[in-house]
Amino acid sequence: MRTTSAIFYAPKQPISVEEVELDGPRAGEALVRVVAAGACHSDWHAVDGHTTPAFAPQVMGHEGCGIVEEVGAGVTAVRPGDPIVFAIRPMCGKCRYCTTARPNLCDGIVREPGLMVDGTSRFHKPDGARLFHGLATFSRHTVVPEWHLVKVPDDVPIERLASVGCAVVTGVGAVVNTAQVTPGSTVAVWGCGGVGLNVIQGAVIAGASRIIAVDVKESKLKFAREFGATDTVNALEGDPVEAVIDLTGGGADFAFEVIGNPTTVRQAFDATCPGGTACMVGVPPTGGEVSVPMRPLFLDRRLIGSSAGTGRPRVDFPWFIELYRQGRLKLDELQSRFRPLEEINEAFADMLSGSVARTIIKM
Ligand code: APR
Ligand code: ZN
Repeated sequence: MRTTSAIFYAPKQPISVEEVELDGPRAGEALVRVVAAGACHSDWHAVDGHTTPAFAPQVMGHEGCGIVEEVGAGVTAVRPGDPIVFAIRPMCGKCRYCTTARPNLCDGIVREPGLMVDGTSRFHKPDGARLFHGLATFSRHTVVPEWHLVKVPDDVPIERLASVGCAVVTGVGAVVNTAQVTPGSTVAVWGCGGVGLNVIQGAVIAGASRIIAVDVKESKLKFAREFGATDTVNALEGDPVEAVIDLTGGGADFAFEVIGNPTTVRQAFDATCPGGTACMVGVPPTGGEVSVPMRPLFLDRRLIGSSAGTGRPRVDFPWFIELYRQGRLKLDELQSRFRPLEEINEAFADMLSGSVARTIIKM
């Protein structure tokens, strides 16, 4: 079939929106009509050169929701008509990670990056040239393996769930699943973008006492307060580590880095109290390294990483939807702006300007 997709060709080049050919689903795969997809910084990392893309040209996008239109042979997770949220990591259900409730680390599926398990691609240029793709949510339609699909209830507007599969589970999950923030503890959050705001609302859900938001943009600190931050620190107006140590009376119990920058990972570590936990959520730059001094580490501090919020999508997504129904999880407020697929470059410009919590591409 013909569809329209956003294609990444090379770093520092505008993303190109083009008509492409999409093959139907093969065994174990589903064709999904994408309804909405969030413009996440992880996609932009390839464009701005933060990470070296493993494959190009590629159909972009990994955060989104949609409706299943067709399934291939043997598919049992979903049926045509089902509303779904895309899970960024596969869940084979059989590997040692899936069977120990850590599907975010699933290693049961071997494949070439950017291709399906059988080594082929479903997306092609009209002339037949192969396009690489992951979930390819920046496309009106996509074909993905069924293990990336989480069927969701149909009583909430599906477009509201656009960020549940990435920003929400990555942020809330880092707090609840990975770091396991305890009630009454103090939390500091470096970076208040789409993911960081979900770390903040995760800290509210976990019962944190103080939630200190750190950013370099006042507009983002305003969003942070709306999402539950009790204090804000503009890192351009002084040393944010000192500010967090002052506000907490000796360092935060938990500090999250949600930018993907070695300097801010180190700042988050330095801002923890003895016995505290620094948790890196941001995607590291290719080859990125961080070092920490040994003496503070010796005082029971921990530096940990969180991948996709240590999420268990089939458990966590329904939980998030229930919290949203009850008004305890902000999803509407996360969607500052809607844009058509043709404005994908403008959607990332919104993100970089700091004027939005998230821009959502509405197909
Ligand atoms: N100190 C504090 N805040 C900073 C700094 C800094 N030195 N540099 C950037 N920021 C802030 C930005 O102002 C912005 O508010 O970090 C925030 C990043 O937010 P977004 O660009 O919206 O990115 P987001 O989609 O939230 O992703 C953040 O998490 O999952 C990962 O891949 C994702 O690495 C990315 C990170
Ligand atoms: Zn993402």
